[in-house]
Amino acid sequence: MISLTVNGKAYEVDVEPDTPLLWVLRDTIGLTGTRYGCGIAQCGACTVHIDGAPVRSCSMPIGSITGGPEITTIEGLAKNGTLHPVQQAWLDHDVPQCGYCQSGMIMAVVALLKEKPKPTDADIDAEITNICRCGTYQRIRAAIHAAAGA
Ligand code: FES
Ligand code: FES
Repeated sequence: MISLTVNGKAYEVDVEPDTPLLWVLRDTIGLTGTRYGCGIAQCGACTVHIDGAPVRSCSMPIGSITGGPEITTIEGLAKNGTLHPVQQAWLDHDVPQCGYCQSGMIMAVVALLKEKPKPTDADIDAEITNICRCGTYQRIRAAIHAAAGA
C-alpha cells in the first residue's frame, strides 16, 4: 500500500510502484479532471502540483513520491465554492474550446503565478509549454495577465 495526500485528503492505494501518478489519480482515486494526452511528459495535459510545483503526472511513478507531499489536482483548486483567480480568469476570457488540455494549462499557470506574480509574455512563453490542439494560446495569454492583475 502506498500513502498519499490529494487535495487535503489521505488515501492508501494498492498499486505497483511504477504506476504513473496520473493513473492513480484517475483510475484508483477517481479524480478524472487530470487528463492523459501524450504519456511522455510533452503536452502538459496531466499537470498536477506536488507541494505547489507543477509535475507532469503521466511520467511520475507513484513509488518515487515519498515523504508525504501534498498533491493538488484541478479538483482541489477552488476553495469553499470560490474559484481560484486563474479559473475565474479562464471563464471571463472564454479560454477553452474543446477543453481537453485546459485543466493541465490551469495547473501550470497557477504554479507560474506563484513563482512570478506578474509574468511577462516571455515568461509565459518560457514556462507554459503545455500544448493545446485548439490553439487557444492568445486567450490563455490574456487570461494569465488578467489573473496576474487580480
Ligand atoms: S500526458 Fe503527461 S505530458 Fe502529455
Ligand atoms: S482547448 Fe482543445 S486542446 Fe486545448
